Amino acid sequence: MKDCRWEPSEQQDQIASLDELRQKCPVAQSEMLGHAVLTHSDVCSVIEDHETFSNAAGSHLSVPNGMDPPEHGIFREVIEPYFSADSLREFEPTCQQIARDIIGNITPNTSFDVVRHVAKPFALHIQCAFLGWPKSLTDTLGEWLEANQQAIVNNDRATLKQKADEFEALIHEQLYVRRKSDATKDDNTLRLIREEVTVNDETRRLHEEEIVSILRNWTAGEVGTIAAAIGSIFYFFAQNPDIADKLRNNQLNVDDAIDEILRIDPPLISNRRRTVKDTEINGCPIKQGEKVTVLWASANRDKSVFGDPDAFNPDQNKANNLLYGRGIHVCPGAPLARMELRIFVQELLEHFTQFELIDIPIRANYPSGGFKNLIVKTS
Ligand code: HEM
Repeated sequence: MKDCRWEPSEQQDQIASLDELRQKCPVAQSEMLGHAVLTHSDVCSVIEDHETFSNAAGSHLSVPNGMDPPEHGIFREVIEPYFSADSLREFEPTCQQIARDIIGNITPNTSFDVVRHVAKPFALHIQCAFLGWPKSLTDTLGEWLEANQQAIVNNDRATLKQKADEFEALIHEQLYVRRKSDATKDDNTLRLIREEVTVNDETRRLHEEEIVSILRNWTAGEVGTIAAAIGSIFYFFAQNPDIADKLRNNQLNVDDAIDEILRIDPPLISNRRRTVKDTEINGCPIKQGEKVTVLWASANRDKSVFGDPDAFNPDQNKANNLLYGRGIHVCPGAPLARMELRIFVQELLEHFTQFELIDIPIRANYPSGGFKNLIVKTS
């Protein structure tokens, strides 16, 4: 068991290290992650058995991520319409404009850090716009995310608490301006304020803390994932110009291609569960109440399912791709994420034909996926 220990904080390149670990340990042991589940089949068993593996794994309210049935279904029903085809159609022109502005700012033949100058600004602008938040908030939110991320990496509880309070204040301000003004234009934040849920036979508006939790997930949670995805896409195009050409010439389905790029280079590393009874995974005994972490970044590169994990094969791998999860917690935001990434990629390929890596890229540390620095030149 000793060589099956794995601490994310000790890894330089978490993806490569997980590839190696998975060969010898289907379930690794970690102070931070508890039982870390690495193979595709074990991850599927865990996420499909929500009666044994509860999502109520953290100490904070998390709507609906940290909930189990039947409560989970009630809140899931509230948020799903925000990602419907109709809602997304309305948002598409804004999304297009943001992608155009950010890509238009890239100077051809000049090296730049994709993460800092493109991926993070795009993800921040797009999630703020999705919620109807002012553009001016993107800088504040960006700085908050940096500091919060650093506190997570350092396991600095005092700063994390301070950041959580700051974030709550930021959201309260957004709720306040909408409540006090009748003239506020309809947006997704106002829509949440007006939502109703029926819990224990009582129909009521969402509680303030429930709205804060939903908005925290849609911003603090997802900006990092979208930004990581953009970084991985640039990296992939630099390494695979032939596939970038095929996409530009409409020889590939763009959504399937992006899903496959992000299977190979996962933007979201893991999610947590907690056991509600004694059980076992792949012969590893797990007691009731223990922490379990499913590692998408490992399962999606399992060679027993995908063969060479780096081989780009969207048609063959689509059915088993766990990029957006599976089971009752499967990502409800997937249609939004796919639209944002599709628009970004189409705009990018229209502007540029070449992507050149200028320096050795530095991978992000857990819990982030993608890159910390990615210096490229485009022309
Ligand atoms: C590339 C971008 C994204 C990826 C790779 C991704 C991936 C995932 C995965 C794997 C899960 C399952 C988690 C689990 O089983 O514990 C999930 C859940 C979730 N995602 Fe996403 N996601 C992305 C973007 C988004 C966006 C843009 C939103 C909303 C704005 C969103 C909202 C959610 C929510 C609310 C859940 C929890 C669902 C539930 O518990 O029922 N995601 N996501």
